[in-house]
Amino acid sequence: MQHPVAYHLLPNGTYEVSSFWGLMMNPWAWLQYAHNMCGAVVTATFVMSSVGALYILQKRNGDFGRMFLRLGVIAGVLACVVQIFPTGDLHGKYMAKNQPIAIAGMEGLFHSVKGAPIVLMGQPDMEGQKIDNPIAVNNVLSFLIYGTTAAEVKGLDAYPKDLWPTTLPLLFYSYHIMAGLGTYFVALMGIAGCLLWRGKLFTSRWVLWPILLSFPLPYIANTAGWMTAEIGRQPWLVYNLIRTSDGYSKHIGAGTSLFSLLGFLGLYTVLSILWVMLVYNIIEEGPASTTEPAADQPRTTA
Ligand code: HEM
Repeated sequence: MQHPVAYHLLPNGTYEVSSFWGLMMNPWAWLQYAHNMCGAVVTATFVMSSVGALYILQKRNGDFGRMFLRLGVIAGVLACVVQIFPTGDLHGKYMAKNQPIAIAGMEGLFHSVKGAPIVLMGQPDMEGQKIDNPIAVNNVLSFLIYGTTAAEVKGLDAYPKDLWPTTLPLLFYSYHIMAGLGTYFVALMGIAGCLLWRGKLFTSRWVLWPILLSFPLPYIANTAGWMTAEIGRQPWLVYNLIRTSDGYSKHIGAGTSLFSLLGFLGLYTVLSILWVMLVYNIIEEGPASTTEPAADQPRTTA
């Protein structure tokens, strides 16, 4: 849907897959898969590291705490780097080629410019077509996309307004939350990795606390990434082929859709609460309780 390949148009106006392998070899899909899977690994490493940090800070399950933290941080350093380079970086370059309007929206680039800056922070002003209170670094966007600081990056003004992503500020913020968190993850895991290397990690409370408190952040980064991909694709359902406005069922009313949406929201809220309770119980109980046999039970090997 983001980058349709291996299809042809039938006389009745519908599209048909023309090659199974063409579909399977869609480079966009592989890139998305790599970035998504890496996001899952980043999440796992943060969960593992934070549980390890918790045990060490609470001075319980010491051996497990150190093992979780060591493994979490080593895998975390690798996964966080791969999340940015090459997967995130390649994704950006690929988008610049195939979805240039989306990337202009993500970066808040309203006007085409040579030596385009990267905006680290700011608020899109849709009326003024500019970024308010920007903190930007000149030339970096041109360099990241085209490998040279002099290259021109096309802004939103180069495209008709009916092709702009519909909720542009949300796209800008989602992308910046994802990329900002990605940068924070590398920094935190990098510092933790250095301390581990020097044998000081387990006693450095000033870094154990941020690791512990970062538990929810990869979940937020993944959700922000997904929002970036889906909002960036608008107004297309299938990029450049079918508009979202043509792709929904005209037989189902807005009320019915809202009702099902609320139903799903309720269901997922209940599931999320159960999940949090379950995970909390498992962490509170600790691994020692399942590996150490009770005093009156014989030791068994699994
Ligand atoms: C500086 C760091 C990062 C960069 C440059 C980056 C770049 C990108 C780009 C360009 C997209 C594509 C959006 C689209 O297809 O329209 C994307 C999607 C995504 N990103 Fe990131 N990303 C970064 C960090 C992260 C982190 C830390 C996570 C999670 C731990 C993450 C998770 C995702 C997810 C889940 C998607 C949606 C993929 C999909 O469904 O197509 N990203 N990212």
